[in-house]
Amino acid sequence: MTHMTQDIAAEAPHEQLAELLADDLAAVNQLIRARMASEHAPRIPEVTAHLIEAGGKRIRPMLVLATSRLCRYQGEFHHHLAATVEFIHTATLLHDDVVDESRQRRGRATANLLWDNKSSVLVGDYLFARAFQLMVECGSMRVLDILANASATIAEGEVLQLTTAQNIATTEEQYLRVIRGKTAALFAAATEAGAVLSGAPEDHVEALRVYGDALGVAFQIVDDYLDYGGAGAGIGKNIGDDFREGKVTLPVIRAVAQADAEERAFWIRTIGQGKQAPDDLDHALYLIARHGTLQSTRTEALRWAGAAKAALQAVPDVPVRRMLSDLADYVVARLN
Ligand code: IPE
Ligand code: IPE
Ligand code: MG
Ligand code: MG
Repeated sequence: MTHMTQDIAAEAPHEQLAELLADDLAAVNQLIRARMASEHAPRIPEVTAHLIEAGGKRIRPMLVLATSRLCRYQGEFHHHLAATVEFIHTATLLHDDVVDESRQRRGRATANLLWDNKSSVLVGDYLFARAFQLMVECGSMRVLDILANASATIAEGEVLQLTTAQNIATTEEQYLRVIRGKTAALFAAATEAGAVLSGAPEDHVEALRVYGDALGVAFQIVDDYLDYGGAGAGIGKNIGDDFREGKVTLPVIRAVAQADAEERAFWIRTIGQGKQAPDDLDHALYLIARHGTLQSTRTEALRWAGAAKAALQAVPDVPVRRMLSDLADYVVARLN
C-alpha cells in the first residue's frame, strides 16, 4: 500500500464506522475467534486463522452493528448476528476461491493454494454450519428466515454465474441477478436482520433492506470494474481473473454490445471459447477503453450508491445514518 492510499483509508467511512462501533466490533471479533476453532480437526483453525486474521474490511458485520444501533437495539445478540454474517461471508470466500481458482485473497495466498481445494470446501462448510449455530442463538425465527433465504440466494447466484460464464449473450438483467444473488443478498440480509432483531418498525426494516441491497449491487459492480480497472490499486486480489475465467461482467457486456464484427470475433474466441493468448487481456482492456465501458460501469455503480443513500431518508437521522450514507460513497470512491 502506498502512503496516499493509507491516508485515504484512515479517513474512510468504514474506518469511521469501525471507530464508532469499536467495542461492538471487538466483541464480534472475539466471538469469531472463539467459534472458528475446532477441538477435533486442527486443519480447521489453521485455515480459518489464515483467512480471518488477514483481516478483511468487516463491512457486513459493521452493517449489522450499525443498523442495530440505528434502531436502538438493547440486547447483546447483535454480536452473534454480526459474527454470523461474517462467517457466511468467509465460507463463501473459501468456496469462491476454489471455483474461481484464485491465488490471492486479502493480500495473502488463498487457502486453496496454501492447502488444497478439499480443505477449502470442507472448512467453508464448517463455517457455514457454525454460522447457523450462531444465528439460532439470536433466538429470532424471522432473523433465521432472512439469513437462510440469503444463504440459498448466494449459492444460487454463484451457480447462475457459473452457467452464464462464457456466454457473451448474457444480458444486463442476468448480470444483475447474479450480483444481487452472490453479493447483495448478504448485504441486504445484514441490514434487514439488524433492523428486525431490534424490533424496528416495518418501514425502517424495508428501507434498510433496500439500502443493503443497493449497497451490495454497487459494491459488486465496483469489484467487477476493478478487475479491469484496478491495476495497482492494491485491492489484494489478482487483476484480470474475470477475463481469464470467461466471466461476463458489466464492462464486457457493454463492450460486446458495441462491438464491430472483428471485436465480436475476439470476444467469442477469448470468452466464448476460452481460447486466450497472453496479450489478450491487454486487447480486452483496449476494447473496453475504446467503448468507454469502464466509465459507464462506474456511472452504474454511482447510480446504485445513490439509490442506497436515498433509501436511508426513511430512517431516523441519527449520526450512524450519516456514516451508512458515507459508506455508500466510499464503496464507489474505490473507483477513483
Ligand atoms: C469480497 O468482499 C467479495 C465480494 C463480494 C466482492 P469484501 O471486499 O467485503 O471482502 P473482505 O471481507 O473485505 O476481504
Ligand atoms: C464474490 O464474487 C462473491 C462471493 C464470494 C459469493 P467474486 O468472485 O466476484 O469476488 P472476488 O473478486 O473473488 O472477491
Ligand atoms: Mg472470486
Ligand atoms: Mg466468484
